[in-house]
Amino acid sequence: MRLKFTVNGQPHEADDVWEGESLLYVLRERLGLPGSKNACEQGECGSCTVYLDGVPACSCLVAAGQAEGREVRTVEGLADGEKLDEVQEAFVEAGAVQCGFCTPGLLVQTHDLLERKPNPSDAEIRESLAGNLCRCTGYEKIMDAVRLAARRKTTQRKSAGRKAHA
Ligand code: FES
Ligand code: FES
Repeated sequence: MRLKFTVNGQPHEADDVWEGESLLYVLRERLGLPGSKNACEQGECGSCTVYLDGVPACSCLVAAGQAEGREVRTVEGLADGEKLDEVQEAFVEAGAVQCGFCTPGLLVQTHDLLERKPNPSDAEIRESLAGNLCRCTGYEKIMDAVRLAARRKTTQRKSAGRKAHA
């Protein structure tokens, strides 16, 4: 089948997609977007998390056909050109990336959390990231990164608000 959908704001088509193929496979192998990682392929690790119509989803569990006509945003689509999103910057600065396999999913999930809850408590961060497994970091630096990203986004919003009222 031919799949037509939007990825990171751009229309895309993929031909000869078979019905059981996952969205993750289409993104990585057909569209050349390797950011989303394939670690378990069973919906258990969260490393393949992407936005599907604005909601985080494990792309290994989404059949390609289910993405028809929909909007996908991958970790590649979080940055604004060369400018990384605050969440991406915070993960780098806090040292929350080791092997990096879990990182793309954590970035998308954290991005979503901070859109919904700009100042999450530690319990809310843990709950939101509970489906994203990391075998390297012990999670403390990930917590630091999320807190840092939340502070940065809050500061940025305040300064944008001040400029709008100036
Ligand atoms: S690769 Fe999709 S949840 Fe692990
Ligand atoms: S940095 Fe290696 S799995 Fe998280």
